[in-house]
Amino acid sequence: MTRAAPPALVVTGATGFLGRTLVARAHESGRFRVLGTVHRSAPPEGAEWEAIPLDLCREEAAERILGNLSPSVVVHAAYGKEPDALHPVIVEGTRAVVRACKKSGALLLHLSTDLVFGGGRGRYRETDLPDPVLPYGEAKLEAERIALHHERTIVVRPSLLYDPLEPAPCEEFVLRALARERRPKLHTWEKRSPTFREDLVAALLVLAETGNPSLLGKDEGGRVLHAGGATDLDRHAFAVALAPFRSYDAELLDRDEAPREGDPRPADCTLVSDRLQSVTGIRLRGVPEVVALPRIPPRD
Ligand SMILES: NC(=O)c1ccc[n+]([C@@H]2O[C@H](COP(=O)([O-])OP(=O)(O)OC[C@H]3O[C@@H](n4cnc5c(N)ncnc54)[C@H](OP(=O)(O)O)[C@@H]3O)[C@@H](O)[C@H]2O)c1
Repeated sequence: MTRAAPPALVVTGATGFLGRTLVARAHESGRFRVLGTVHRSAPPEGAEWEAIPLDLCREEAAERILGNLSPSVVVHAAYGKEPDALHPVIVEGTRAVVRACKKSGALLLHLSTDLVFGGGRGRYRETDLPDPVLPYGEAKLEAERIALHHERTIVVRPSLLYDPLEPAPCEEFVLRALARERRPKLHTWEKRSPTFREDLVAALLVLAETGNPSLLGKDEGGRVLHAGGATDLDRHAFAVALAPFRSYDAELLDRDEAPREGDPRPADCTLVSDRLQSVTGIRLRGVPEVVALPRIPPRD
């Protein structure tokens, strides 16, 4: 008897911080045929997944390329952070991904963000109404709404992604400042629920195999899952927790205790994420637990 071919899993943004671990773990699981889209960065040497060149700003081409792959599952992790990328990549790029998923009937796991919330309250649940205050959060909310037009979409909202083993995009400004011998100032008034990359990847792979959007319900927030880690931290405490794994001394991190007048950054975007755990069985661990994992030794 011939075995059925494994389902094709396409990850957009496969060279990004989340995407590169996702494609690696998906391949290691042996349960998918793994394809990843690449844009400006080349795939890592020896990558064992299939690299597909794709520019989401070329919407029609993106729709055609993704559609031709006939994926069973698409994890849409690609995005652009520059101001001029917000609309073309995040909003219009998502539109192209959604059209392709509709054509093939693929399950779409759409990566969004905790910054769809304005931070006025914190401990947000999926049923809370988004109220973004940053252009990035606004674009991501618009993309979520487009993504949810496809009935086989699940929106996943992580908080700050990190991994003690590799500096994350959210750490770039700290590392840049320290490299220039400046003391970075970190907000003690800005709270988030940082998400350990490996835990999010594990949850996404469970959703890719078993996720059934129709079982998540049709009510407000039904096909949305929050994916914040179990511990809420301010930005200063978060950088202090990661210091033992990086090349800096926590003493060099200054505290920024209060927002300046007119600062639009959300103060408290912490998430309640127990729904993701009940759907996937994966608990998103908090920063203190993750940094204490024996497989993640601090630097000497
Ligand atoms: N990082 C966080 O702390 C965080 C927090 C909450 C939510 N999220 C969400 O999680 C997802 C993954 O984030 P990440 O940190 O892994 O992102 P990342 O490291 O910045 O990677 C973004 C990926 O998107 C690709 N990309 C950029 N422009 C593109 C275009 N025009 N066409 C096709 N691909 C393009 C990039 O490729 P090139 O580099 O080659 O251009 C890269 O592979 C995003 O949806 C983000 O909004 C991230």
